[in-house]
Amino acid sequence: MRKIYLLLGLIICTGTSVLQAQTQIPEVEELLEKMTLEEKIGQLNLLTPGGGVATGSVVSEDVETKIKAGNVGGVFGVSSPAKVRQAQELAVKNSRLGIPLLIGSDVIHGYKTTFPIPLGISASWDMELIKQTAQVAAKEATADGINWNFSPMVDIARDPRWGRVAEGAGEDPYLGAQVAKAMVEGYQGEDLSQPHTMLSTVKHMALYGAAEGGRDYNSVDMSKIRMYNQYLPPYKAAVDAGVSSVMTSFNDIHGVPASGNKWLLTDLLREEWGFEGFVVSDYTSVNEMIAHGMGDLQAVSALAINAGLDMDMVGEGFLTTLKKSVEEGMVSEETITTAARRILEAKHKLGLLDDPYRYSDESRPEKDILTDENRELARKVAARAAVLLKKDAGVLPLKENANIALIGPLANDQRNMLGTWAPTGDFKLSIPVLEGIKNVMPHAKVTYAKGANISDDAQFAENVNALGPRIIISEESPEDLLEEALEVANAADVIVAVVGEASEMSGESSNRTDIRIPESQKKLIRELAATGRPVVLVLMSGRPLDISEEMQLPVDILQVWHPGVEAGNAIADLLVGNYNPSGKLTMSWPHSVGQIPVYYSMKTTGRPGPSDTEFQKFKSNYLDAPNSALLPFGYGLSYTEFEYSEASVNEESISGDESLTISVEVTNTGDHDGEEVVQLYTHDKVRSITPPGKELKAFKKISLKKGESKTVEFEISREDLKFYNADLKYVVEPGEFEFFVAGTSNHEFTGSFEVTE
Ligand code: NOJ
Repeated sequence: MRKIYLLLGLIICTGTSVLQAQTQIPEVEELLEKMTLEEKIGQLNLLTPGGGVATGSVVSEDVETKIKAGNVGGVFGVSSPAKVRQAQELAVKNSRLGIPLLIGSDVIHGYKTTFPIPLGISASWDMELIKQTAQVAAKEATADGINWNFSPMVDIARDPRWGRVAEGAGEDPYLGAQVAKAMVEGYQGEDLSQPHTMLSTVKHMALYGAAEGGRDYNSVDMSKIRMYNQYLPPYKAAVDAGVSSVMTSFNDIHGVPASGNKWLLTDLLREEWGFEGFVVSDYTSVNEMIAHGMGDLQAVSALAINAGLDMDMVGEGFLTTLKKSVEEGMVSEETITTAARRILEAKHKLGLLDDPYRYSDESRPEKDILTDENRELARKVAARAAVLLKKDAGVLPLKENANIALIGPLANDQRNMLGTWAPTGDFKLSIPVLEGIKNVMPHAKVTYAKGANISDDAQFAENVNALGPRIIISEESPEDLLEEALEVANAADVIVAVVGEASEMSGESSNRTDIRIPESQKKLIRELAATGRPVVLVLMSGRPLDISEEMQLPVDILQVWHPGVEAGNAIADLLVGNYNPSGKLTMSWPHSVGQIPVYYSMKTTGRPGPSDTEFQKFKSNYLDAPNSALLPFGYGLSYTEFEYSEASVNEESISGDESLTISVEVTNTGDHDGEEVVQLYTHDKVRSITPPGKELKAFKKISLKKGESKTVEFEISREDLKFYNADLKYVVEPGEFEFFVAGTSNHEFTGSFEVTE
């Protein structure tokens, strides 16, 4: 591969009026020289022949003819070395210049080896593990011909009604940024021309998680102060980690849809952040600007390319209107050349311009996909994603020879184990909980009953089942299901009830206004608790749920999300204590939907109440609920107990480049070995703009044998304390900072230090 790059100095990108130094690649420049305007526009066209899940109402037509004509820059929904070779041959052997295609895919939480949903993976707080999941996903996907991934999704999400919270890392910008970095590094590796790495796309730029009312694709209206401090950091972290492409979001920002927003795609992304890759639209999001009220197809396509969007996913507005727009002077040819250059540079980075068939190695799938090692990792991650929410029954971990009544609509299910957005996975390969318990606990006695439907509501089930059956309403009546379950329960020593959401009750276009466990299952849970036998609720969901009622019951609750292909084995590992739960929530769980949005870093207001639980008139509180979440960000229990000493700081104040160290001693005082996520939060007491009530600044995951103590140290510099002020300058202001270190965000401040000029 040619590695000589020419620095051509200042290039004027007309249409975007960006003045920037750009490094150019001779191979790409030679190609561009030869290309007609139509061929350049062809590179900006991304199609899907419909092999995957169509996330809009359109599927591309005549893809083959268009590839041969040089009208396609990339496709998605095509996989396997043979099919990808075929697609590449269409382009390489038939189109005039033989430029190979980008082969995209949504590899969101694993390729064929499906890991837990991303919100679950983030609950591990283990960046090395998260990176490994991305590495394995890249190895498997590239073995199957994919060279471009539409992941990670890093949208900050503070509204659990929104179904897509399942796909991200939750509510916090600092944690979200760490996860974004780990995933980009995992997918892309050190060298994109290596056959096991693929281009990564950070999405959805930007603010998609702030859709009003938690309704997907809805409008967003947000101050720049909030954007910069709370919502943009994960996208920026991905850019800083070298992400190759950025996908725009469906929502508007300051009144202009992201796909046509020049401030977002050029001023911020390229000029401020220095992004050098390419920008791709979301599925028909360019065309959707017509419905947003931005003009006809020609107008919105011109708006998008002039804003800095390089590739049009499925909509074909670029293909059908850009030439006309150039002729009419609405778009400059230079703008189109710049966009085409970015796509060709990505192909060059992958090594495709040297060898179009490098991802078409027929021997790889067998060697690289769904290996024992990969499945082992999926099992490990699923166990580390789980969060122990409550241990009032005190029955966990179970004895190896326990007499278990395994009950619930998700207890012997395969269809829902992979979770949302696992189109490349195969649910038939997933391990149901019943099977997992039998595998892992051969000496246990297990009797199973379904007990209830996921939901009894036929219309709701039909909506959820849009992509295939997830909620199957039993022919038996709910009364008979319950009676059978109670019989099984009464004959056992312990009840394990696997309940919660079907996989497609969360995810894209799966928003809920009621985030409780469906009534059919709540009834079952009440009846099981009333048997007086110890009950473990194994809870599955793609989002935070309102479990206020279940938190009142004397049960153990283990949140396992949708755990992926190794679901049953991982859950059994947790139940019997082969792994002691260590996950911590990355999104707050509310008392009720009425509290939304609720997140740990909320500002204090000018009228804070006397305490979280005490009501006071003319204070900022509710008559009928506390202000804070039912289960806060950072929360999660263990089979053992951890005690924290009071954290101390080695310097009273810092200035200039100095840093200080905050230390705490953590002791495992319980009866099991375990892991704990030790979290440091600060509060900037005086700022020129109102600060968050607390902010996660650092964390470390440690492992402690029973009885063992460890000192955990966090080094904090002025850089770590910076924020964007009203002028959007990244600054630290002198003054007092409070801090605490704990295993949750819900804690009092215990110490402070000063930052001086
Ligand atoms: C729509 C989704 O918003 C996006 O995340 C995904 O990558 C595309 N569809 C392609 O499937």
